[in-house]
Amino acid sequence: MILVTGATGTVGRPLVRALRARGAAVRALVRDADSAPAEWDDGVEPVVADLNDAGSLAAAADGVAAVHLLTPVGPDAARQARKVLDAAAEAGRPKVVLQAAIGVRRRTTPVRFFDAHTAAFDQLEGSGLPWTVLAPNGFLQNFLGLLPALRTGTLALPAGDAAVSYVDARDVAEVAAAVLTTDGHEGAVHEVTGPEALTHHEIARQFGGVLGRDVAYRATTPEQARAALLGSGVPAWQADGLVELHGLYATGAASAVTDTVPRLLGRPARSLATFLTDHAALLPSGPDTPQENR
Ligand SMILES: NC(=O)c1ccc[n+]([C@@H]2O[C@H](COP(=O)([O-])OP(=O)(O)OC[C@H]3O[C@@H](n4cnc5c(N)ncnc54)[C@H](OP(=O)(O)O)[C@@H]3O)[C@@H](O)[C@H]2O)c1
Repeated sequence: MILVTGATGTVGRPLVRALRARGAAVRALVRDADSAPAEWDDGVEPVVADLNDAGSLAAAADGVAAVHLLTPVGPDAARQARKVLDAAAEAGRPKVVLQAAIGVRRRTTPVRFFDAHTAAFDQLEGSGLPWTVLAPNGFLQNFLGLLPALRTGTLALPAGDAAVSYVDARDVAEVAAAVLTTDGHEGAVHEVTGPEALTHHEIARQFGGVLGRDVAYRATTPEQARAALLGSGVPAWQADGLVELHGLYATGAASAVTDTVPRLLGRPARSLATFLTDHAALLPSGPDTPQENR
């Protein structure tokens, strides 16, 4: 039995799907019994728990052989990860697969979103639990949240002109499923990227091709980006984190392409072109986050 935290999210949904495709029994953590997706079959046992509630996590982790630890982006994430790892340690000796991010080991360019991952990594290393860390680059799915602006012909980010090897979150999920269900990954940090590093100019051009219009990338300053995010209602903690993250991208530190997806899955990583093809019917005017492609 594999406990999946974040089971209803961008990574978690395709992860549950991928684990079922591998025949694994899944205990899927949900905050609310009604949020269990209709696609979950009898091999998925929803368990109602909250990452802020240690008691519910102890019950969720009871008897599992492996834990997929994913925390949402937010200021509570480090505390939440600690609670999950404490529950895992109490539950026995399950294998833990930590869903982190690139930069989990590099502390030179601070990005607050990564702090929880670094803290969880530190705790894991001292825990005696068998662990593997997945360190994915930014998700292509993030661009779905920018569709309203892309449809008006603009991609404005404080990411400079460096290339980024964005990864499809479905590949991250399928790598996680492979690591959770096979041996030989203990103590490994797998950096998970797409098959190519693209500048945001090129990303804008490819979105334009699907949207049927020119889309231009404009590199904004951190101050412009922060003001725009705050103006659109993004909380200050998250706005500052997004500016930090794109500042990291601007240094070129997120441009390396790794072989993790082909090595673990035996096929190429999904490209931006594939991502756009898979979402093509929905991009011009459809819903911003198509559930079936998450
Ligand atoms: N986006 C990127 O580019 C990127 C890149 C690398 C790494 N990451 C990392 O990936 C993680 C985010 O993954 P994601 O995009 O799949 O997240 P997501 O789509 O935002 O989903 C978050 C999941 O966490 C659940 N959740 C939120 N608060 C909870 C709570 N208090 N108790 C229990 N469950 C709770 C949500 O459940 P509900 O459905 O109930 O809300 C949902 O299943 C972060 O750690 C981030 O640093 C992201």
